Amino acid sequence: MPARRVTAFAPGRVNVIGEHTDYNGGLALPFAIREGVTVEATALAPGSDRVEVRATDLGEHDSFPLREPGRAGGWRAFVRGAVAELDAAGRPLVAMRVEIAATVPRGAGLSSSAALTVSLCLAMTALADSPDAGALDRLELARLCSRVENDWTGAHTGLLDQLASLYGDADEAMRIDFAELTVTPVPLRLHGWRFAVADSGQRHAHASSGYNERRAECASACEQLGVTTLSEADAAQVAMLPEPLRRRARHVLGENERVREAVQALQAGDIRSLAALLDASHASLRDLYEVSTPAVEATVAALHAAGAAGARVMGGGFGGAVLALLPPGTELPAGATEVAPGPGAHVL
Ligand code: GLA
Repeated sequence: MPARRVTAFAPGRVNVIGEHTDYNGGLALPFAIREGVTVEATALAPGSDRVEVRATDLGEHDSFPLREPGRAGGWRAFVRGAVAELDAAGRPLVAMRVEIAATVPRGAGLSSSAALTVSLCLAMTALADSPDAGALDRLELARLCSRVENDWTGAHTGLLDQLASLYGDADEAMRIDFAELTVTPVPLRLHGWRFAVADSGQRHAHASSGYNERRAECASACEQLGVTTLSEADAAQVAMLPEPLRRRARHVLGENERVREAVQALQAGDIRSLAALLDASHASLRDLYEVSTPAVEATVAALHAAGAAGARVMGGGFGGAVLALLPPGTELPAGATEVAPGPGAHVL
């Protein structure tokens, strides 16, 4: 018998370092945060073939047939896409009422979209859980959630956000290798330092920002070099690329190296070096990858002025959040929020 009601939670994420490396077969070091999206799914009476959705905090709703959700915009695309992709993957589904409540701000660079998609997929599969369906492992689920984002919302994002949400753990960051698709826990011992995020105030939507353009540039660089991902290329190959592709590829190789150094810095308890790596990552994202904006630059400068030892644009860029590392004893800058690792996505 399917469960009558299921609640799932999936967190947003902070990416310590390793930006625009996921779809380039590189490395990243994210952690799941405590804020996220909660989805409550309740089975409807037998005979119904609909999905009724309420986004509690937005005061909005949606309703569509279970077997043919059809297209819609905004947050509705994620719900319809989740249903359609689970169905296409052969997962059992039941007619249901779905309530969505978020504690992670939308479009602010903390991965609210992945939190929403992961939470929806977890709740929906758990509600219709059937022993014959077999378990969907976390990697498969991350891929499915990524298809929802790619094919239903038009944002050609990688797997960073979904993996971070699914593999998060309290007190830990994780080193993700996107070539091998492996996730290795890295204890986040900060010795009194704190991470904080500040909103640049500029909303971003990956489907309409320069994000897809950057992906296309990387694909074109790979084609010219005859490699599958930019992380396979070496510096000599990259030097042969025309601009701006050379700048994009230099960012990717440099950023992979910074992830390796960041893991070492954390292991050595050298948080000041980690902060310097954040600054170096920002400079590369601004000058080589060109995903910063005046609003982001102003936010980075304000965080430095308030005592941050390192600060950088986080996530896709073109607005969104800035991540800062604050030395012990530094007050939280105005408008910034402290972020700390929390548990990964789970059914409650
Ligand atoms: C967004 C995307 C991720 C990743 C980052 C940049 O958050 O959703 O897949 O590409 O941008 O690192």
